[in-house]
Amino acid sequence: MELPEPVTRRIDQARTRYPAEEPRAAVIEALHAAQDELGWLDQPTLDAVADYLGLEPIKVYEAATFYDMFNREPVGRHHVRVCTNISCWLCDSDAVTDRLRERLGIDFGETTSDGRFTLTEVECLGACGGAPVIWIGRSYYENATPERVEEILDGLE
Ligand code: FES
Repeated sequence: MELPEPVTRRIDQARTRYPAEEPRAAVIEALHAAQDELGWLDQPTLDAVADYLGLEPIKVYEAATFYDMFNREPVGRHHVRVCTNISCWLCDSDAVTDRLRERLGIDFGETTSDGRFTLTEVECLGACGGAPVIWIGRSYYENATPERVEEILDGLE
């Protein structure tokens, strides 16, 4: 598999920010570029990223499987991730997740039949001061409430 040109262009840009002998430094940015273009990261894509960077595939697999931000399965157009870890749970993330499930008609790990939304439960998003936290695309929605869930989803195309 060959990576699409927009992906290789972003990888090339990323490489300019790091020493030439350290291609591994660009792995995270390369994975973001591939995911932005392709929606998720399948095995051929990971192999293509490794090949393009001149790395052993395991170096790319390690990053792709460690971080929640990388999708290893196809997801809906809007990937709704909600934190249920301790700070968010203490601030009633249960009410937020209940409203998300009701509104979307799906449970964690599922995608709506129209392919618009995927709902995922995640561990701490590192924004505990704004608990409960929902993460969609490149945005964090802090201090989430059931009412705010409605506003957030209404605001998505
Ligand atoms: S516990 Fe939810 S952001 Fe930290």
